[in-house]
Parts: sequence; C-alpha cells; structure tokens
Amino acid sequence: MDRKQCCVKLSVQPSRGLMDEKFLVLVQSVLPGFQLTVYASYRCDDGHSWEAFAHYTANASGTVNVSEDHSLGGTYCGVEPMGLMWSLRPVPGSKPGLRMRKMNVLTPMEVTISVYRGHLTEGFVDQVPLAAVVVERWYMAPGVRRVPVTEGGLTATLFLPSGPGPFPGLLDLWGGGGKLVEYRAALLASHGIASLALDYLTPQITKENGKMVDNNYFEAAYRFLEQHPQVIDSRIGILGLSFGTSIALKMAVYSQVFKLRCVVCISGSHVQPIEGSVEQIMTSFHNNVDKTRFNEEQQVIWRDLLLPIPTDPSLKVEVGRLRCPLLMVVGEDDQNWPAHESAVDVKEMMQRAGNDHLLTVLSYPSAGHLIEPPFTPFARASSYKILGPPLQMVMVLWGGETVAHSRAQEDAWRKTLVFLRENLYRATSSSHL
Ligand SMILES: *[C@@H]1O[C@H](CO)[C@@H](O)[C@H](O)[C@H]1NC(C)=O
Ligand SMILES: *[C@@H]1O[C@H](CO)[C@@H](O)[C@H](O)[C@H]1NC(C)=O
Repeated sequence: MDRKQCCVKLSVQPSRGLMDEKFLVLVQSVLPGFQLTVYASYRCDDGHSWEAFAHYTANASGTVNVSEDHSLGGTYCGVEPMGLMWSLRPVPGSKPGLRMRKMNVLTPMEVTISVYRGHLTEGFVDQVPLAAVVVERWYMAPGVRRVPVTEGGLTATLFLPSGPGPFPGLLDLWGGGGKLVEYRAALLASHGIASLALDYLTPQITKENGKMVDNNYFEAAYRFLEQHPQVIDSRIGILGLSFGTSIALKMAVYSQVFKLRCVVCISGSHVQPIEGSVEQIMTSFHNNVDKTRFNEEQQVIWRDLLLPIPTDPSLKVEVGRLRCPLLMVVGEDDQNWPAHESAVDVKEMMQRAGNDHLLTVLSYPSAGHLIEPPFTPFARASSYKILGPPLQMVMVLWGGETVAHSRAQEDAWRKTLVFLRENLYRATSSSHL
C-alpha cells in the first residue's frame, strides 16, 4: 500500500442510530482533487445483498463530506446526505423483484460504508477498499421493549417505548400482503408511542376453518391496547397503509368500541362496501379483475380496479361521520391504489359534511405506493404473494420515482410524527402529560 492509501480517514457519525436518523459520512486525508467512490453495502437477513455508491472528488483540503458535496455519478447524483441509504439496490445478478424489509427488528441493519480509489461502477468485491466502517441502523431505540401478543386470538407484537410510561397507543396495520411486520411499529415506539403491529390476514389462511377475521378481531386488538397498563386508554390512534387504511377508516367511523384520537391513512382508499367484512372488502377489489393491466415488463397495475371512484355512497366509508383528525398520505404516481383520487373524494365528502377541518392531505408528485419510513430503499415494483388459496406470486408495480419518492418518505414521516404527537400527546385539562 502506498502512503496515500494507508492514511485515508473515513468516519460515519453516528455509527449507531435509528433508521430515520441521518448520518454524516466524512472522508479525510486524501490528496486534493483525489477521485473516490463511497460505497454502501448491506446483506439482508434473507441473504440478499444490496449496494449503493457515489463518485466524489476531494476538495482542496483533501476532504469529501457526503452531506455537502456533489455526487458526480453512481446510484444517485448531487448533494444527497442519505443517498447511500435510499438508493441501495440489489447487487447485479440478484433475483428480480426484491424489496428490502427488516423482519427481525431485534438486530440492526448493518451497513458497511467503504471508500474506493477512482470512480468505480462495478467489481467492488474484487477491489480492496481504502477504508471501511460498519454502521448500525436500528428500528428499536435502546430501552424499547418488544412484547409478542397472542391473547384474545391476536397475532400481534406490542412495542413499548423506553421509560416508565404510560404512553399513548397506536394500532399499526399493513396491507394486503399479510404477515406480522414489525419494523414501523418498532420505530414509532422509538419515538414515544406504544405501537401494536397486528397481523390480520395471515391467521385466516393458516387456521383450519379458512375464515377471515371479522370486526371483533380489530376490536380485540383495540381493547388489548386500551386495557394495557402501559397505554393511556384515552389516547389511542390507528395507522394503516394500503389495505390497512380500509380497516382503519372503517373502524374509526363504524365501530362502537374504537374511540380514537386520530387516524393516519397511507396510500389507501375509502372505497369499500361499508357493511363489508374483511373478506367482502377483499372480494370487492377483485370484482373488477378485468381492469387489471400489465405493463411491458409484465408488472401488474392494480389501481384501475378501484376506479372510477363510485358515486354510490354505500360503496364508500362515510368519512363525513369522522370525529377525530385524519391524515392522508398519498403518492400521485401510485400505480397500485388510486390513493390520490380517493383523497380528493374524501376531501369533498368531508367538505359537504362540514368536518373537513379534521382532514390533512399530504400529496406527493412522483411518489409511489410504498411510502415507508425515511431512507427505506425505493422499490418501484416487487414480487408479491397474493393471499390465496391458491398462493400466487406476481410482480406488482407500486410506482414512484427514486428521488421524489425518497423525499416524500422523509417529509411524510416527519409530518406523521408531528401529527401523532399533536393528537396523542397534546395536553388536555384533565391530562398529566
Ligand atoms: C473541504 O471540505 C471540508 C468539509 O466540508 C471543509 O471543512 C473545508 O473547509 C473544505 N476545504 C476547502 C479548501 O474548501
Ligand atoms: C459536513 O457537512 C455537515 C452538513 O452540512 C456539517 O454539519 C458538518 O459539520 C460537516 N463536517 C465537516 C467536517 O465539515
């Protein structure tokens, strides 16, 4: 190794942080004008490898500051402090349709950041980096507790913030893919909200009777939160993404049991048979199956299944009856659900009913369906298991464009946390918070 190589200094601060925290990447002690590549690599729990990289030129002091300097090429360009995270993509030759999802939140995402000589675009594994550090990215902050929940027939996990509590609570629902997905609830608990991740689709296909869950299941989940000693029973909200928004809106408007402080709907729709069970709502989406389109890459585009937005009120949740604040987050390039069109209709309905002061819509041009926590690597399409039987894999187009979508994720998450804090933590005269 020559002198220049042995003295390269690479630091990433903080080297251990939350998934939604920014880090600073600094390369020092290279020659002025030195060309280098900053490379991020990550091996998922499921064994797939992801990478991102960017080309920089050191300034007159022999320094590259990723938070301030322009990337001249790579998986992102320009000044992008967190580009090394959100532009992560499967390494060349990976199987198509991967989407990064951390399934074990008890371990961090371990990302290796390294520096290579020159402006490389491939062959990283065959080169020796000039410097490398490993950073840990966590969904669970220190002190957050993970509590598996099976009582009342629930398939759920409760994440409790650190500290003595009690805390405001949140029911967290993902979409039609089913499974118990914990990472968003873990991150919300890291921000002070006791969050219950609930699986409401997988149980029915594993149980012998093959039945889908009914409203009682969601009410049992609500009661579990309400009665939990670490949860403040008068400060509970619900958050849903995609199909989860259908449930969230339905419970907020029609359930006698749910007494919610607020509702967050990400990439969803209010269009569904209002008296319908989970199964009937699912089926109603499939009624228009002839409207399914495929693009030239054989990716399925589902948004038209729910278009046009019906005028028949019995096919839409009566959002005019909502009595708590509603935040809708939508991507205007959502190819999976007509979430944007739905938000427009919800707004009109609430205006007519005179409760639109309760509505906030965050609408993002060129953002797709999967609006995830900040810096989550972007997936425009991914392989998806249609819940059966029979189980079937398809490639689903979610939509969005990398940079705009990544900015939307950052903005939406920040505003969602503000919305949740305002509605779940805001002091009232009878409160000790
Ligand atoms: C080079 O970049 C570093 C880090 O951003 C900065 O502190 C330093 O002043 C810069 N040097 C020059 C000569 O611009
Ligand atoms: C790198 O840039 C960030 C963001 O502008 C700044 O806060 C930090 O101080 C910079 N680091 C150095 C060593 O200049």
